[in-house]
Amino acid sequence: MSEAGKLNVPIARTALEKNEIESVLGPLSSGWLVQGPKVREFEEKWSAFTGAAHSIAVTSCTSALHLSLVALGIGPGDEVIVPAFTWISTANVVEHCGAKPVFCDIDLETFNIDAKAAAAVVTDRTKAIIPVHLFGLCADMDAVAALAKTHGLAVVEDAACGFGARIGGRHAGTFGDTGCFSFHPRKAITTGEGGMVTCADEALAARVRRLRDHGAVMTDLQRHLGARPYLLADHVDAGFNQRMTDIQGALGSAQMDRAGAIIAERQRLAARFDEAFADLDWLRTPVTPEGYEHGYQSYPCLFRPEAISLETVARVNAARNLWMDTLQKAGISTRPATHAVHMLSFYADTYGLKPQDFPNALFANDCSISLPLFHGMSEAEQDYVIETVRKGYAPA
Ligand SMILES: Cc1ncc(COP(=O)(O)O)c(C=O)c1O
Repeated sequence: MSEAGKLNVPIARTALEKNEIESVLGPLSSGWLVQGPKVREFEEKWSAFTGAAHSIAVTSCTSALHLSLVALGIGPGDEVIVPAFTWISTANVVEHCGAKPVFCDIDLETFNIDAKAAAAVVTDRTKAIIPVHLFGLCADMDAVAALAKTHGLAVVEDAACGFGARIGGRHAGTFGDTGCFSFHPRKAITTGEGGMVTCADEALAARVRRLRDHGAVMTDLQRHLGARPYLLADHVDAGFNQRMTDIQGALGSAQMDRAGAIIAERQRLAARFDEAFADLDWLRTPVTPEGYEHGYQSYPCLFRPEAISLETVARVNAARNLWMDTLQKAGISTRPATHAVHMLSFYADTYGLKPQDFPNALFANDCSISLPLFHGMSEAEQDYVIETVRKGYAPA
């Protein structure tokens, strides 16, 4: 309870079970602290859950994206298509390769990449596209795959939020050349920091594995289990150190034992919100297209969808911010769903971009609002959010 006797509901709360917390003691006691048996176990469980042929644990989704691009040979002179509404690292990793991120607009219904807008920015320098499965909903992968096939583009899925996101039963991260997941604490499975690359192609997976570990042809675990553990491995790439620790691997692996239950609980909470807000025409709750399954990394809504246009967006934005302030004072944390990267100073200044260049990304940036949703949320907490949201907003 807050001082005023109200509930305090965070935007997200990490809810680890006792055995999950205790799981980190294994590596701490055994002394095998860096990428080893527990990371391998986590990777195996991740592959089993997602249906990916290969899973490669790394230090973050950002490093998963970066290693994917490097492994696919993206470099200076190349262009990579990135939706304008996403977390900044989707674009930053392209910069880190010396390539150019080329933004395109999103579909405001789903907040995900608009494949037609993507098609319009393809040039003869375009080498890859990064569809983002925002907030637990897959991007339109049929459309992205068709575009990629037409132009011979590599597809790197940004599935940072994509745990539990499926199309026709097929999990995020299994559509493109690679899929990249995040285990930051705002994600449903967390290892503090952490990430995973999923991949179908054996040779590409081997390259990502090497690149995460200084370019070594053999992991420490393989070397230690092998016949001659005293000899060092050869290094065939100038790789990176993006290894996950076994402490994190143990934590991730333990949570995977209730992966299905975590998704089911988040979906149940989301369905309850959907029903409670169904009659509010000023708040558009998350849209799930036919055949898609939403993993609800978060619960992103659009504030006053009926009122948004280029002329009104500043006013709707002011009213949303005022409403967010009211909710915060009532003890309820909210956030804009994410940010429009082309509006952030680095990208706006570097590429001379204006907010209205990608209107839907601008609208999503200024008018979206994520309500608290996390597994472990109590009924009292959810009831309190429902009751407070239903009181409505004040005009700006
Ligand atoms: C869409 C998207 N991409 C990439 C990332 C980066 O993930 P990480 O913090 O694990 O590097 C995030 C993090 O929130 C994200 O939401």
